[in-house]
Amino acid sequence: MTSFPMQPIKLLLPDLPLAEDLLPLLRRIDATRWYTNFGPLVKEFEAKLSQQWPIPLALSMGELPALQVVTLNSGTAPLELGIAALGLPQGSNVLLPSFSFPATASALLRNNLKPVFSDVAADSWQLTPSLARATAAQHPLALVMPVATFGCPLDVVAWDKFVEDTGIPVLMDAAAAFGNQAIGRLVHASFSLHATKPFGIGEGGLFVTRDAELSERVRRLSNFGFENELSTLVGTNAKLSEYAAAIALVQWSRWPEMQIRRRAQWAHYHECLAALDEVQCQSGFETSMPPANLIVTLPMAAEVVARALSQSGIETRRWYYPPLHRHPAFERYSGHWGTPATSLAVTEKLAYCALGLPWHHLLSQAAMQQIALALAQALNSAKSR
Ligand SMILES: Cc1ncc(COP(=O)(O)O)c(C=O)c1O
Repeated sequence: MTSFPMQPIKLLLPDLPLAEDLLPLLRRIDATRWYTNFGPLVKEFEAKLSQQWPIPLALSMGELPALQVVTLNSGTAPLELGIAALGLPQGSNVLLPSFSFPATASALLRNNLKPVFSDVAADSWQLTPSLARATAAQHPLALVMPVATFGCPLDVVAWDKFVEDTGIPVLMDAAAAFGNQAIGRLVHASFSLHATKPFGIGEGGLFVTRDAELSERVRRLSNFGFENELSTLVGTNAKLSEYAAAIALVQWSRWPEMQIRRRAQWAHYHECLAALDEVQCQSGFETSMPPANLIVTLPMAAEVVARALSQSGIETRRWYYPPLHRHPAFERYSGHWGTPATSLAVTEKLAYCALGLPWHHLLSQAAMQQIALALAQALNSAKSR
């Protein structure tokens, strides 16, 4: 009989700096008494990001305009404000994957735009340029919002080409892909710095683009639309505080070492899971950093396996379940244009059989082996019933 640890195996554990490491930066705040409104720590963090963005671009992209980084107080803010800054016609159609987090859809509905739900590719679980081209050929689209699903990098070269060919802007929801997502010439991107994301600071977000005017509008929108003390845009308050920037700067100094540890952990975990023939991992991470969240597909209903793992003390989560077109707030947009814009077959399959497993910086090799073993046992016992 297998013995499982007394302590449950946690699904997620944020990896944030310790209080003592924050002290030097907190003392800088004490000295200046500058707590928010684009203070020195926010400026320092933005400068580091724009000058040393962690993912270089393919050489084929040549000389590019400088990267513009706007820090914000959540990963939802760069979606909402990025869309607002684009100034799209009210009521126009925006293509997004149904397999995503509610913020992707609510950000565009809050800007009075219409979500059009797309399916995702069977391997990367992403809305791809070819899926978007097929829809754009049949229906007018004002914007496309692909999602870097669970941190899997989107192909910026292909998305830049999509913008060039179609004239339709692209805002990548790269919420979980900090450290994995390059920024192209024409596409814009949004990142989350929520505690559970790879670069967690508690709450925070980034709008990243090479369009200096667009980034200036996002920044202005984050500060009540102010320009020379007048609101020239209908803005909000979405600024990052100096305390949050202090955490971000310490996190930035820890980042290289965090990456080395994650890669080593992932190599072992991936090996444990690869031994299970019927369990499939998301593809697209072959040359990148590991996924932000580990989701696998199973040969049976995810809820059956989730129940069995829970009895073994292993926490799981059905991420992005239900898909967006089945949430009460968004379901009236499913079947837009009479029938769905594209079939949602892959999305429905993922809704049935995708399950998130524990994955965090304190997950030991022994726990990874226990998870793989419990998974094998759960699959076997479900089959023998
Ligand atoms: C795809 C996606 N977009 C947006 C968000 C929202 O980010 P935040 O929680 O930082 O507002 C999330 C959060 O998990 C997400 O997964």
